[in-house]
Amino acid sequence: MSTLGTQLPGVSFCPEAAGPRFGVLGSGKGSNFRALAEAWKSGTLGATPAIVLSDIETAGILPLGREFGIPSHFVPPGPFRTKMTPEAEEELVRLLREAKVDFVVLAGFMRVIKAPLLEAFPGRILNIHPSLLPAFRGLEAWRQALEAGAPEAGCTVHLVDAGVDTGKILGQSSVPVLAGDTAESLHARIQVAEHELYPRIVRKFAEGLKAEK
Ligand code: GRF
Repeated sequence: MSTLGTQLPGVSFCPEAAGPRFGVLGSGKGSNFRALAEAWKSGTLGATPAIVLSDIETAGILPLGREFGIPSHFVPPGPFRTKMTPEAEEELVRLLREAKVDFVVLAGFMRVIKAPLLEAFPGRILNIHPSLLPAFRGLEAWRQALEAGAPEAGCTVHLVDAGVDTGKILGQSSVPVLAGDTAESLHARIQVAEHELYPRIVRKFAEGLKAEK
């Protein structure tokens, strides 16, 4: 079923500009989500954020989502640290379907995605990772790059598959590692690159979906 042109209440977009709808999953402060939402508000994203979901009740991304007028909900993840329970993932799927999203964007979501979500949105879940994949998969990739003495670092947007940071690469952006960098200064430089890269790649992905329909 095509959901192109579906409008959020109170948001006056021409249906063409609104583009496909997407859900955002995040566990943190949501600076990547902010970059996407600002691109959406300025009419340059070609896609519409329809719902924001978090596994952390106090995550900054939830009030931020509401600030942008987007329904934003906490979904209790269950007892595991690195993944959600199948029931919790089913609840994510239910909410995403209810919001009629065409694809899903992970913006600092700190749990591994399992079968319920992967099967509900095959080839339609994007993630941003703070390294030049395939180098430095996993946690605190910027620190890994610094400790390995890499001359450059960066970020990658990729499709999510059953592995950790292993899916098809959609785009990358590099930044230098400078003398005197700390983990914090390098991460901050990578985040600046992320905020430019993610909206650009989401726009391309949305254009691809529109072409498919
Ligand atoms: C980003 O650095 C992203 O690469 C990683 O998690 C961080 C999220 O930051 N996956 P934010 O919540 O978007 O500020």
